[in-house]
Amino acid sequence: MKFFIDTAKLDEIRQAKAYGLIDGVTTNPSLMAKEKGDWKAVARAICGEVNGPVSLEVIGTGAEEMVREARELIKLGPNVVIKVPITEPGLAAVRQLTDMGIETNVTLVFSPLQALLAAKAGATYVSPFVGRLDAIGHDGLALVEQILTIFGNYGMSTQVLVASIRHPQHVLQAALMGADVATIPFPVIRELLKHPLTDSGLQTFLNDWSKSHGATKQKSRRAK
Ligand code: G3P
Repeated sequence: MKFFIDTAKLDEIRQAKAYGLIDGVTTNPSLMAKEKGDWKAVARAICGEVNGPVSLEVIGTGAEEMVREARELIKLGPNVVIKVPITEPGLAAVRQLTDMGIETNVTLVFSPLQALLAAKAGATYVSPFVGRLDAIGHDGLALVEQILTIFGNYGMSTQVLVASIRHPQHVLQAALMGADVATIPFPVIRELLKHPLTDSGLQTFLNDWSKSHGATKQKSRRAK
C-alpha cells in the first residue's frame, strides 16, 4: 500500500520523507488555507519536495472552470494530480482531464456508486472519506471494501485512495483490504510506529547495559 501524507505543511512532509515513508501528498483547500504566504509557492515547494503525485484541488464549481484551473495547477509541478469533487460538473471535468492525459483524484466520495461513476469517468484515484463517515455513525471502512469489490469485479484501474484517516486502525484495515493508497495525517503516521512494549523493552535493554557497563566504566576510571 502506498503512503501519501495528507497535509500542506512542508515541515511535516520533510520529516515523513526522512523516514522513507512518503509516496505522495494530498492537499485540499482547507489544508492549503492554513499555510502562510503565496499558495502557489507553497504548492510548488511541495511538488519539488516529493518524488510522487501531489494532489491539488480545484476551487471552481463548473466543469470548464475546473478544467481551466487544472491547466494552471499542472504548471506548478510535473507531479500534480488534479483533485476534483464528485459532482456532475466534476465528472465532466474528470472526463476531459483524463482525455487530456492529466491525472485526477476524485474527492469527497461517500458512497460506492459515486466511486463507480468516478472510475467510469476515468479517474486515476478515488478518495473515500472514512473518518467523516464514521463520525456520523456510518462505517467508512465498509465503503472502502465495497469500492474495492466493485473495481475488482470489473478490473477497473482507478486506485482506491483511503482518505480522512483518523487513527492507525483505519490504516491497518485499509492495508488488509488491499487498498492502493492511504493518505495519512502526520500525527497518525507517528502513531503507527508506537507500541508500549517497544518503549518498555528498549528501556530495559538500556538499563541493563548501563548497570553492567556503566559500573565497569566508573570502576576502571577510579582505578586509573
Ligand atoms: O484531503 C482529503 C481528506 O483526507 C480530508 O480529511 O481529515 O478533513 O476529514 P479530513
